[in-house]
Amino acid sequence: MSKILVTGGLGYIGSHTVVELHNQGFEVIIVDDLSNTSLDVLERINKITNSSINYVNLDLKNIEATKIFISENNDIDGVIHFAASKAVGESVENPLKYYTNNLFSLTNLLNELKDLNKEINFIFSSSATVYGNPEILPITESEPIKKAESPYGNTKQIGEEIIKDLIDSNSNFKAISLRYFNPIGAHSSSMIGELPIGVPQNLVPFITQTAIGLRKELTVFGNDYPTSDGSCLRDYIHVVDLAKAHIKSLYKLINNEDKSYYDTFNIGTGKGTSVLELIKCFENVTENKLNFKIGDRREGDVAECFADVSKANKILNWKSELSIKDSLLSSWNWEKNINNEKLQ
Ligand code: WQD
Repeated sequence: MSKILVTGGLGYIGSHTVVELHNQGFEVIIVDDLSNTSLDVLERINKITNSSINYVNLDLKNIEATKIFISENNDIDGVIHFAASKAVGESVENPLKYYTNNLFSLTNLLNELKDLNKEINFIFSSSATVYGNPEILPITESEPIKKAESPYGNTKQIGEEIIKDLIDSNSNFKAISLRYFNPIGAHSSSMIGELPIGVPQNLVPFITQTAIGLRKELTVFGNDYPTSDGSCLRDYIHVVDLAKAHIKSLYKLINNEDKSYYDTFNIGTGKGTSVLELIKCFENVTENKLNFKIGDRREGDVAECFADVSKANKILNWKSELSIKDSLLSSWNWEKNINNEKLQ
């Protein structure tokens, strides 16, 4: 059975991916420095999987600790690298935090893996942010990579380049970069989901926190965009579908004869949904009237961003199966669950 290292495995997408890896019979070891999550996510993963997943508290920026960890786990066959800071706005205010945390962690980890001198299957958590303001929609992987709109997006562009250059120089690595569109939703158990710290920057957690009464009202950032209803279009993908794309990518790497294989894939639904359409869908699904108002545009937002996912469909044999309704209902159930727990 293959042993898979999941960095940032207690985060939103990481935790859902750990569950799917376990379901597929992989042995998993999680490292996470708990800078953007909490240890009770591990307990929840263990409850969902009825197991006891290995976890090590590790800051990948710590060269010595990472060296020791990899030497003690030199039997890993694959790595799924989620560990990174991911708030676009924060990256603009504090770029050095993002370049240090997102890039030094990556190069430190890759250095130690390279010294194992064994075949490593590496999956990199990238983002549709690498495309900036796309010229052609839906976006294909051959859409030109433009100047990043934020230091966060730049760390994803540079991260992809670091991995590509390493593979061109080292035959022990095969890798896939997955460019996520907009992950939303939660596991059907409502035991794991998105846990924004402080005021949510992303749309769906702000909607569910407004619906449950934690926030007074949602502000829709602009309805004067050149779209059908004036609000921005995004490609909202259920986090469980996204997690499953990592499993398909792992099989693709493990079964791939090409010793220096590298490729990038868009992971989305292939459909664009506007902010106002998403709000309407949430109201229908939850029978909850949402309190929102129209406000000014948010700096840096693009009008439309949704994926052409035909490459992942074909080469990874993966496609999204869950609907926007499934995503929003699961987000709502998760929000209710974490608030009930707080009240107990
Ligand atoms: C979606 C839409 C907002 C909040 C970001 C990152 C991206 C990726 C996913 C990491 C936009 C509107 C939002 C609100 C609103 N993260 N909105 N009111 O900006 O598409 O992508 O998250 O990889 O890198 O950039 O997602 O959820 O912030 O916004 O009207 O209170 O909702 O204007 O049109 P975004 P988002």
